[in-house]
This record gives sequence, C-alpha cells and structure tokens, in this order.
Amino acid sequence: MGVTVRDLAAWKAEGRRFTMLTAYDWPTAKLVEAAGVPVILVGDSVGDNVLGYANTLPVTMDEALHHARAVARGAPGCLLVGDMPFGSYQGSPDSAVDNAVAFLKAGMHAVKLEGGGWTAPLVKRMAERGIPVMGHLGLTPQSVNAFGGMRVQARSESAQQLLLDHARELEASGAFAVVLEGMPREIAGQVTTALRIPTIGIGAGPDCDAQVLITHDLLGVSRHTRGGMPKFARAYAEIGELTLNAMRAYDDDVRAGRFPDDEHSYH
Ligand code: KIV
Repeated sequence: MGVTVRDLAAWKAEGRRFTMLTAYDWPTAKLVEAAGVPVILVGDSVGDNVLGYANTLPVTMDEALHHARAVARGAPGCLLVGDMPFGSYQGSPDSAVDNAVAFLKAGMHAVKLEGGGWTAPLVKRMAERGIPVMGHLGLTPQSVNAFGGMRVQARSESAQQLLLDHARELEASGAFAVVLEGMPREIAGQVTTALRIPTIGIGAGPDCDAQVLITHDLLGVSRHTRGGMPKFARAYAEIGELTLNAMRAYDDDVRAGRFPDDEHSYH
C-alpha cells in the first residue's frame, strides 16, 4: 500500500510538512510520484488548465473520471484525491455519494469537495460509508459567481470566525484534511493550530501543515497558456518557455531542411 490518509494524520502529529500537486494525466502522475510528492489531486482545475474552459464550473463527472483513471494508472503509490466537479455533490446526498463512489472505482483513494457549513453532513455521510473526504475552504473556485470573482476570502473578523467554525465542523464530520485557499496567512495559521487534521494551503501563507500547487503553475506553463501566474504561485521551472523554444526550433529545422537528417533516417 502506498501513502494513506493515516500517514497524513501521523505527519501532522509529528510536525512533518508535506506537499500535494495536481496531475490530470498519466505521464505527469508518474513524474509526481517519482519526485516523491506523496499526494496527487486530480483537480477540477483540469477545466481551466487543460480543457480550455474559463473556470472550473463546466467540468463534468465523465471528464473528471477520465483524468482520474489516467492518473491512477500512473501513480499507484501516491494518495490520490479526486476533486468532485461542480454539480456532482450540490444536489441530493445520494447522488453525491454515488459520484464519490465513482471516483473510488476509478482508482482514487479519496475525494475533495468545496465549501463549509452545508457540506459537513455530506462529509459525515461519505466518511461513514468508507469514503475519505478532503475539505476545501476559503476562495473555493466553484463559488466564483457567488464571490463576484476570484477574490481573497476571510478578510473580516466575522468571516474568519465562520471559517474557523467550518473547519472545526469538517474535522468533526470526519474529513481527513482540509485545503485552505486564498485567505490571509494569519487565519490559515489559526485554523492549522486549531485542527488535528492537516491543512493544505494554496495562497494561504506558510503556516499550513502542507502546500498544494497546480503543476502548470509550478512548471511555468500557466504564464503562456493562461496569460499569467497567480501571486501566490512560484514557477520552479520555465517549461512553457522551453516548450515554445523546442517547437520553434523544430519548425525552423524542418523548413530549412536540417531535420530529418541522415542520422534520423533508416537505411
Ligand atoms: O482543482 C484544484 O486544483 C484545486 C486546488 C487549487 C486545491 O482545488
């Protein structure tokens, strides 16, 4: 057995920080596992990073499961988390459980769902049925229309108190971890101290137990495909630039008659 939800709990207890990365396909999943990153999120960010949608809202269960299966084939040793797309858990609790089950049948070990308060009974329902759930609070991208844009959340004292209450409810309902996205670092630190389960930050400062990045941001691809990088992300390589240069060089070589050459020919 690879990494499990019990490992994450133990790491929090030991004060050991860890990482999660997104992957949507087999080669990326293989690379994430080879790099020693223990947790993979098959994010609904596949929508705006890979499928060309304006945001995550159009992603369907069929699309999410297609990517989940590819990742499961690539990284069997990682803890694999399937991100429930918008519309797959907001309706009846029964259909939400059915959709979560579909992720586990596709090879995921857990699911993630966004929001606090109303999600707590759903998390409990899933946890009781053997489905590990990761919560997600703060700037939850599926609520982009309700927020009026991708805005940092939990800036006021009352919003911070509500966030803390929601985080505690998720923990009490059986969530094994919670993503904290797009919020002041101070409140993310408070939530991290208040919970026994690990917090996984993205745009929530350095005081969370773990960090998650979208792999296309980490690789510097987003600045070419999405017109920029979020303030909180760091590109650890410029793969977008390298890719463009490689494609241009290939195009130049073929047009100039330098490729293919004798070395790349059969005799
Ligand atoms: O879909 C996703 O990639 C996410 C992360 C931003 C946490 O939800």
